[in-house]
Amino acid sequence: MEGKLTVTPPWPDNHKSTKRWKFGHKVTTYVHLAKLVYEKTGWTINHGESCVDLGDPTRKKRPLDKVVNFLYVQLTQGIRGLTESKEQRKCVAELTSKGGCALKEALGDEISRMFEVSSLSTIPERQGRGYATALVHLVTDLTDAKGLRSLLISSNTINRPFFRELGFEIVGAVCLGNDNPTWKEPPVTVDIMVREPKSGNSSMDKKTIGSEPECSV
Ligand SMILES: CC(C)(COP(=O)(O)OP(=O)(O)OC[C@H]1O[C@@H](n2cnc3c(N)ncnc32)[C@H](O)[C@@H]1OP(=O)(O)O)[C@@H](O)C(=O)NCCC(=O)NCCS
Repeated sequence: MEGKLTVTPPWPDNHKSTKRWKFGHKVTTYVHLAKLVYEKTGWTINHGESCVDLGDPTRKKRPLDKVVNFLYVQLTQGIRGLTESKEQRKCVAELTSKGGCALKEALGDEISRMFEVSSLSTIPERQGRGYATALVHLVTDLTDAKGLRSLLISSNTINRPFFRELGFEIVGAVCLGNDNPTWKEPPVTVDIMVREPKSGNSSMDKKTIGSEPECSV
């Protein structure tokens, strides 16, 4: 692999460039990748030049799942506790609380039955070759076959046309950083996007689809 995958946390954060945070982020990324290998829910192209993480509610549970989950939570929380600043913890709390409410409002209990496309990324040197499109198609072929909706949470509003092209539409949004006095940049909009299965009859309220939410400063 030539370059680095560039998935950074989707929240306003003044401390992303500190050595301590970068180290913690790298270690938690490896822990996360190890979990994906165990669960067999991560797909890559060319040994990691492009990656996607698939949240699959139909995945068959395995005997070691509980132990692996416990270790994963303890390790990632421990590392983050040691490497994140107080301010960063506040930002994560803002994302968790606002994101949780927005997801519940947009999707209710259905969220536990939805596939989720996450951590989609391609190293800069290989972007524009159709890798991410191919990976998302793997997921959408699966969800179409099963007749299930899929979820995608994106803080990169530049990608909206790309995700729309793949069938994802905005059903909700969260605005982050707008009430944080230490955040001097524009607030961050996090989109909640949903894709209907091609053959499926879904109950999604069409009126909620397709708006372009933006945070105001
Ligand atoms: C978004 C991303 C995953 C696309 O990966 P990719 O392998 O280049 O995607 P594809 O080659 O399938 O191209 C799909 C579309 O992405 C867009 N795209 C690709 N490279 C791009 C770049 N460097 N800058 C902006 N848009 C780009 C184009 O709109 C392209 O559509 P086109 O075929 O009409 O040109 C990649 O740009 C990336 O890793 N970005 C940073 C991380 C990120 O934002 N991830 C999404 C998290 S929700």
